[in-house]
Amino acid sequence: MTLLIAPSLLSCDFSRLGEEARLMERAGADLLHLDIMDGHFVENLTFGPPVIKALKAATKLPLDAHLMITNADHCVDWYLDAGADYVTVHVEACRHLDRVLNHIRERGAKAGISLNPATPLDFAEEVLELVDMILIMSVNPGFGGQGFIERSTGRIAEIDEMCRFAGVEPLISVDGGINARTAALAAAAGATCLVAGNAVFAADDPAAALAAIRASALAAQLECEEEIAGNFAPFSSDESL
Ligand code: DX5
Ligand code: ZN
Repeated sequence: MTLLIAPSLLSCDFSRLGEEARLMERAGADLLHLDIMDGHFVENLTFGPPVIKALKAATKLPLDAHLMITNADHCVDWYLDAGADYVTVHVEACRHLDRVLNHIRERGAKAGISLNPATPLDFAEEVLELVDMILIMSVNPGFGGQGFIERSTGRIAEIDEMCRFAGVEPLISVDGGINARTAALAAAAGATCLVAGNAVFAADDPAAALAAIRASALAAQLECEEEIAGNFAPFSSDESL
């Protein structure tokens, strides 16, 4: 089963962005999650295309741009030009979702949608075949270091089921409040990509924190697989008694 870990640079030392990116590369991260905030769709303000371009030159890790911006319809090209490998837009902020997702793919990048904690999952249904990633927000977006909204696990499981039913396999990414404990909950519910900011960068040893998140999620996935395999196991000889 797939499991990607995407550390979010939102909680890193911004004065050392390149070094932090390379640290994550050495730590075995799969993607580098970049939180683009416009001070409008969310209150907070972070960075934009020039920083993505600089990071592209600083690391070989695929760049996972999470656009928390209101005008994604008009400016996804900036992020694609800057080198983002994944471009994720919020369904709540995009007027022409179908067009934007097609455009991202036509430009050769992976297209993603993100849903806030209170957004009905139905919003994803019409575009399931146009996305490579569905980013389930497990906090209200805007800030790092918030607590995982526990009912997110139900939403992860529901989106996983929706994808299976549709016969598609986008990454199911979970963003917000991920640590070693909640990574297991999310993975057990069906997440295949975990974004973690504070739990990695506020740790004394970020590489060890990333490894702990991965280990915990992998153990949860394994447990689920064993449970499923157990349910389909042939009758043992004891049961024929
Ligand atoms: C929140 C961002 C997240 C954030 C996660 O709006 O989208 O990517 O960095 O940070 P933690 O892991 O600290 O909740
Ligand atoms: Zn994010």
